[in-house]
Amino acid sequence: MKFNFRNKLALVTASSKGIGYEIAKQLALNGAKVAISSRSKKNLVAARNKILKEKKNVDCRYFLCDLSKLNQIDALQKKVTKSFKSNIDILVNNSGGPKVLTATKTKLKDWSFALNNNLLSSILMSQKVIPGMKKNKWGRIINLTSTTAKEPSPSLVLSNVTRAGVISFGKSLSYEIGMYGITVNSILTGGVLTDRIKSLIGKDKKKISRTLKKIANNIPVKRVANPDEFIQIVLFLCSENSSYINGSAITVDGGVSKSIF
Ligand SMILES: NC(=O)c1ccc[n+]([C@@H]2O[C@H](COP(=O)([O-])OP(=O)(O)OC[C@H]3O[C@@H](n4cnc5c(N)ncnc54)[C@H](OP(=O)(O)O)[C@@H]3O)[C@@H](O)[C@H]2O)c1
Repeated sequence: MKFNFRNKLALVTASSKGIGYEIAKQLALNGAKVAISSRSKKNLVAARNKILKEKKNVDCRYFLCDLSKLNQIDALQKKVTKSFKSNIDILVNNSGGPKVLTATKTKLKDWSFALNNNLLSSILMSQKVIPGMKKNKWGRIINLTSTTAKEPSPSLVLSNVTRAGVISFGKSLSYEIGMYGITVNSILTGGVLTDRIKSLIGKDKKKISRTLKKIANNIPVKRVANPDEFIQIVLFLCSENSSYINGSAITVDGGVSKSIF
């Protein structure tokens, strides 16, 4: 599919690596001005350099923002709009994965962190970009969540709860801002081959390879997604072409989820 994001400014949060990076890269390669952000300047510089290596004259700038620290959200929106002298047209709310814990093992501090990092950050970030989108009478907000929102995983209670909240907020928001040409949609992510999925398995390369084979075997398409194929739907939702898709939660998991809706 061909995309053209010329004259659009996109902000992708948690985008120095993995899925967020891949989305930012493709938005930039397809003409958008792109703001990438994460906690680490080193990772962001490396990510920006990798994007520039693919195409010299892209406009990709980096901004430090730790999503678990909510006071940095307001600053991020201000810094991005000031730096590009433009409102944000496309917001991709991505975040770092929460801790792996079962329900009875969670402590208050785990909940505070996950609620800030994985739920409140995307709520506040969305609220910050809406006035600019309303002025432009156009906008796209895409929330990256997880299949755990629909089919909770016993060991990922922090993800189960916060991702469901993100989708529910996105749906609520969609009632209010659709009339301004702004759409809000969420993706329920299945397995995507990134550092995160490898680190959840462990450090041993042989174990990673064995486990990935096992995971793949349980997926109807018999493989874990490459980041590049996974993000095609996100690019579509960011584009002009997706204008009638609003308030949706779309599962992208190679068919592994058992539920039909
Ligand atoms: N990969 C999968 O199979 C899969 C499946 C379902 C859901 N997901 C979810 O999708 C999201 C992305 O996954 P991924 O596989 O792309 O992960 P990843 O490869 O580990 O990348 C995570 C990104 O998030 C950034 N980050 C982490 N904590 C942050 C924070 N507090 N503030 C700002 N940025 C932060 C990291 O950058 P810095 O370290 O530079 O800050 C990095 O750029 C995660 O929430 C994950 O749970 C992934």
